Amino acid sequence: MTSLTIHVSNATDTAVLATTLAQLLTAGDIILFAGDLGTGKTNFVTSAGTTLGCQSRITSPTFIIADLHPIDLGTLIHVDAYRLGNTAEFTDLGLDEYMPQGITMIEWGDKIADQFTDYLYIEISFVEDGTADQRQFVLSSTTPAWQTKLEQLKANLPQEMFQS
Ligand SMILES: Nc1ncnc2c1ncn2[C@@H]1O[C@H](COP(=O)(O)OP(=O)(O)OP(=O)(O)O)[C@@H](O)[C@H]1O
Ligand SMILES: [Mg+2]
Repeated sequence: MTSLTIHVSNATDTAVLATTLAQLLTAGDIILFAGDLGTGKTNFVTSAGTTLGCQSRITSPTFIIADLHPIDLGTLIHVDAYRLGNTAEFTDLGLDEYMPQGITMIEWGDKIADQFTDYLYIEISFVEDGTADQRQFVLSSTTPAWQTKLEQLKANLPQEMFQS
């Protein structure tokens, strides 16, 4: 499996997807999110963070760029790369030391994808001719560890999420 396409009908479905994925995450995992304004990137991170044991409120880090939240397995590193001018600005944040002991989730991560070799890429889009709350998620990665997690995710999600 090189990618997984998932159809969600509303924000509750997105929470189901985020929660189910979060249960498979392990320390050092990096997820890059791509998708237009308002597709639900922050919404996804908030649900995943709750499952990961985050007790603090997860909001959009657009202006502060990065937020660190304690979670059960270390730190949730939540980044919004929207306002980053280049990849050097990401490196300058000095998040490297936290990333191996945590989960990193980067909104607008497509802007700085060349910084990473091992990551899950989640592309969220609005559904043309769909309702306002429908979204398509495409999850992809080239690494074997993520392929295994994507197969587990597929097995754990309600099967109707795979029908368009
Ligand atoms: N299926 C859905 N999944 C996620 N959010 C949804 C869905 N349907 C409607 N929404 C709504 O869309 C909005 C998504 O906002 P959110 O801040 O998560 O987007 P974002 O992609 O992070 O935007 P930005 O690019 O500004 O960071 C929320 O108001 C949420 O309630
Ligand atoms: Mg956001």
